[in-house]
This record gives sequence, structure tokens and C-alpha cells, in this order.
Amino acid sequence: MNMVVACLLFAVVSSTEPLAWNNSMGYPVENEKFELFHISQIEHNYNMSLHARLERDEKRIKTLAQVLIGESNIPLVNTTVEQGEMLGTLEYIVRIGVGTPPVYQFLAIDTGSDLPWIQCQPCSKCYYQVNPIYDPKKSSTYKEISCESTTCQLLGKQHSCKDHQCRYNVGYGDGSSSKGVIALENFTFGDAIISNVAFGCGQKNKGHFLNFGGILGLGRGYLSFTGQLRGSTGGIFSYCLVNAGSTTSGWLRIGEGAIPARAAWAPLMYNPRTDPSFYYVGLSGIMVGQMKVPIPDQVFQLSSAGKGGVVIDTGTVISRFPKAAYEVFRDTFLAQTKHLPRAKGISLLDTCYNLTTVNPVDIPNVSLHFRGGPILILTPTSILIRVEGSDTFCLAFAPTSDDFSILGNIVQQKIQVTIDPRNGRIGFGPETCASGNPGWTKFRNGSRRQSSGNSVLLCTILILAHYLLV
Ligand SMILES: *[C@@H]1O[C@H](CO)[C@@H](O)[C@H](O)[C@H]1NC(C)=O
Ligand SMILES: *[C@@H]1O[C@H](CO)[C@@H](O)[C@H](O)[C@H]1NC(C)=O
Ligand SMILES: *[C@@H]1O[C@H](CO)[C@@H](O)[C@H](O)[C@H]1NC(C)=O
Ligand SMILES: *[C@@H]1O[C@H](CO)[C@@H](O)[C@H](O)[C@H]1NC(C)=O
Ligand SMILES: *[C@@H]1O[C@H](CO)[C@@H](O)[C@H](O)[C@H]1NC(C)=O
Ligand SMILES: *[C@@H]1O[C@H](CO)[C@@H](O)[C@H](O)[C@H]1NC(C)=O
Ligand SMILES: *[C@@H]1O[C@H](CO)[C@@H](O)[C@H](O)[C@H]1NC(C)=O
Repeated sequence: MNMVVACLLFAVVSSTEPLAWNNSMGYPVENEKFELFHISQIEHNYNMSLHARLERDEKRIKTLAQVLIGESNIPLVNTTVEQGEMLGTLEYIVRIGVGTPPVYQFLAIDTGSDLPWIQCQPCSKCYYQVNPIYDPKKSSTYKEISCESTTCQLLGKQHSCKDHQCRYNVGYGDGSSSKGVIALENFTFGDAIISNVAFGCGQKNKGHFLNFGGILGLGRGYLSFTGQLRGSTGGIFSYCLVNAGSTTSGWLRIGEGAIPARAAWAPLMYNPRTDPSFYYVGLSGIMVGQMKVPIPDQVFQLSSAGKGGVVIDTGTVISRFPKAAYEVFRDTFLAQTKHLPRAKGISLLDTCYNLTTVNPVDIPNVSLHFRGGPILILTPTSILIRVEGSDTFCLAFAPTSDDFSILGNIVQQKIQVTIDPRNGRIGFGPETCASGNPGWTKFRNGSRRQSSGNSVLLCTILILAHYLLV
């Protein structure tokens, strides 16, 4: 095969200079690369049960489906649901200071929703969180906004007015919701202070939110955290996710400075039919080992009517393909893993292996091919999910009855992902985020023909190539 391969992984970016950016209010701030934790790292009571994660993941998908294919163009508001549940599978957490002086909060990042919100005093209903709940009375920079303001109007159906106060109500389809007032506040990340971030000061919050203080919406809409900074940052951000149970943290960077010098860029698509919150990526095909998975092109295409397409989402764990496409993919994978002992399926995962007696484990590469040529080659930790505390590993992909696909957080792990809405592109690499995670060491890291030493092993993650599907 005629391919030009340029492994980008070891082109380490050493951007030590501070990256300045500015929010729409014009206060310059410095960009910091700040830590992004997996929920299991900050929440000691976190139940690592794969079952529980998968259940929540299904709820997440249902919620996304309602927004993506339903008539609703904003996350659902359903005030009639009393019994709150977990908000999907938001698992990646940043620590942010809210107010002056800053009160530090863990917030879950969510690329599938916009409005940032945090639990706020006085709470008529707040769930348990690790940190003290933010109290606007103790902050000198808290400001409410009027109902007539543009920001309030941008909330559309999610807002209401009461005595000129801008009130919001966001629901997440699974019964989780947050209600309160919209206000402006200074947010602190490391040494950087961002002024006047519009956020929901949530006084009535329902749902089991895994003890974090709220949600940092990073969606594509105007009111997401990155959307609010768009004027000066182009809505650009970059992240590196570690896997569950990792002993190290990943990171999140925001602003133009987060654009890596070299990355494999794929097109970011825009769905005019749903609200702009979601990031669609131009996936063109999948390969398992040397085998192209025979999925018709249109399965991954976002139609002009807004159907289909592939959403990349940090809040979903397991990647999803429409049922027929999933089955072809799975069968292709199975055909190349006949040598591995199978295990019973778990919840939505139907392809599991009992690898107790197998060492080293060889599994085929799965490569995601994007329009324009870039390829993301997935290593075992990005293909399989491990059943906690066991040697059972399952294919981290599942079917949906919907027509869209999702690239969940497992496939995004350990590789830098850069969302650049301004230039309509999404980048992979070049940085990786290591994650000390025992249990995976028995997987062979892909065999490579090159002779450039140890680093080559890790190069299997990413290849930017003129490597066209035939
Ligand atoms: C901040 O924003 C202002 C106005 O948009 C712009 O003139 C200035 O160059 C920006 N500063 C930085 C450091 O980006
Ligand atoms: C934790 O997971 C186990 C299954 O492994 C389940 O039986 C138990 O109810 C879960 N506990 C909580 C608090 O969710
Ligand atoms: C709102 O909740 C009610 C009661 O659970 C349910 O019957 C209804 O379908 C929900 N509406 C939406 C739009 O989710
Ligand atoms: C906090 O926000 C206010 C606007 O409410 C701004 O004037 C001030 O400069 C910010 N404080 C810091 C330390 O940046
Ligand atoms: C996996 O295989 C080992 C060895 O054959 C066996 O002892 C163990 O019970 C199996 N585990 C599961 C979950 O099937
Ligand atoms: C795969 O790579 C990891 C990290 O570099 C290493 O710890 C592990 O031992 C390797 N596995 C094999 C089978 O070589
Ligand atoms: C994974 O992909 C690389 C690059 O195409 C290839 O060299 C390597 O042999 C593949 N590994 C396996 C196990 O197929």
C-alpha cells in the first residue's frame, strides 16, 4: 500500500510561554494547562462498577438522541420529573475557582451542553458535593443579569423572567435538572482569572451528580464556557483524557494557544438542524487491522436534513454506531480475535473476552479514518473497556437504534483532542497523556516494522497519512 506515514507523537510541543487570551469583556488572562481528572480520582466513593457506568451511558445517549433527532433544539426542560438520576456519564472533572475570593469547585466538563452551572446558596434543593457550596453573598464579584439582556435571551426556552431576574431551567432528559438565576462571576483557573462568565447559579438541582459542584458546558453554543470566550479564543480548546482508574491526570487548555503546532486535522461538521451545541466530526470509515469495515459511506454522513453524522462527546463512555454498522464492525473485529477466549456480554456490550490466561494479548488495530485523510489508530486501551478488577475486557462500542454515531471518551483517551470551531476542524495529537493503569500491560502495543527504537511502540496511536481507503 502506498502510504506516507508521519508519526506525530514524539513531536513534543514545548510551548512553555504563557498563552494569553481574553474574554469577551476584554480582560486579558493567561492560559494555563490545567488538570483534568477522571471522576474516580477525586471521588473516593465512586462506584467503579462497569454496570453502573453503562447504565448511565445509555441515559446519556437517550438524552443526546432526544436533542439530536427530536424537535427540541435545546436540552430538554422537563419540570414534571421528580425523581432525579445521574446526569449521563460525565466523568471528567476540572477544578475551578468561582467568585472572589475564589471558592474551588469540581465541575464536570461536557462537550454536549452549553450553559455552565454550579450549585448555589441559598439552595432549596442541592445534592451532596465534596466542596462547600458556592455562596454568592460571600463573593464580591457576583452580579445578576437582567432579563432583557442578550445573554438571557440566548437561553431561549430555557429562561423565564421574574422581577426582571433572569431565571433558567435546564433539564437533561434523564430527570436531572438545574434551576436558578443567571449571573456573572469571575472564574479562576490556576493563575488565570476570567471575568464575567455567565453561569447558572443553581438553587434547585436534581440528580445524582457524583458529588461534583456543577457542569462546565463546553458545547458549541454561545453560552458554553468556550462559547462565551469565543470573541477572543475562537471557542478553541484542547484536552487529553486519561482512562478510568488512571493514576495520573489529563489536562484541558482553552484558547488559541491550545492549538498544537502539529496535529492530524479532520473536518468539524455543523448540524444546522439541531442547536449548535454538538461537535460533529467527518468520519469516513473504519478499519480493523488491514480490513476495511464494509459500512456504506452515508452511515457516517451528516445529511443536509441533519440526519446521521458522528458526534464526538466527552460525556459518553462507549462509542455508538447505528445497529447495522455496529454489527458489521463487531463481526470484523470478532473475525480477527478468534484466538481470544470469549466472556459473557455485559449490559450493552456484547463482545467481551476473558483474558486471564492470555499473555501477551494481541488485538487488531482499529483505525478511524477521517475525511481529508487523517487516521486515528486506536490502541487496546482505546478499543476495549475493562471490567473493574477482572481480566474481562469488552469492545467499547455498542449499537444504537438511532441514525447517528457517537465517538465516546474511551476512543479519545490518551491522545490530545483539539476542537477548533473557528477553523471548522478537530485535531488529534500530537500530545499524549500517559496513564499509569495496571491491567493493560499484557496487551502488545502493536507491532511496527520501523526500527526507530522504543518510541515506535507508542506511535501506533496516531498516524497522519495520505492513506486512502480503497
Ligand atoms: C483582547 O481583546 C481585545 C479586543 O478584542 C484585542 O484588541 C486584544 O488584542 C486582545 N488581547 C489579547 C491578549 O488577546
Ligand atoms: C456499586 O456497584 C455494585 C455492583 O458492582 C452495586 O451492587 C451497588 O449497588 C453499587 N453501589 C452504589 C452506591 O451505587
Ligand atoms: C416529561 O416527564 C414526563 C413524566 O415522567 C414524561 O411522561 C414525559 O414524556 C417527559 N417529557 C419529555 C419531553 O421528556
Ligand atoms: C472580576 O470581575 C470584575 C467584573 O465583575 C472585574 O472588574 C475584575 O477585574 C475581575 N477581577 C479580577 C481579579 O480579574
Ligand atoms: C476466566 O478464565 C479463567 C481461567 O480459565 C477462569 O478461572 C475464570 O473463572 C474466567 N472468568 C470469567 C469471568 O469467566
Ligand atoms: C505496552 O506499553 C506499555 C507502556 O509503554 C508498557 O507498560 C507495557 O509493558 C507494554 N506492553 C507490552 C506487552 O510490551
Ligand atoms: C497496527 O498498525 C500499524 C500501522 O499501520 C501496523 O504497523 C501494525 O502492524 C498494526 N498492528 C497490528 C497488531 O495489526
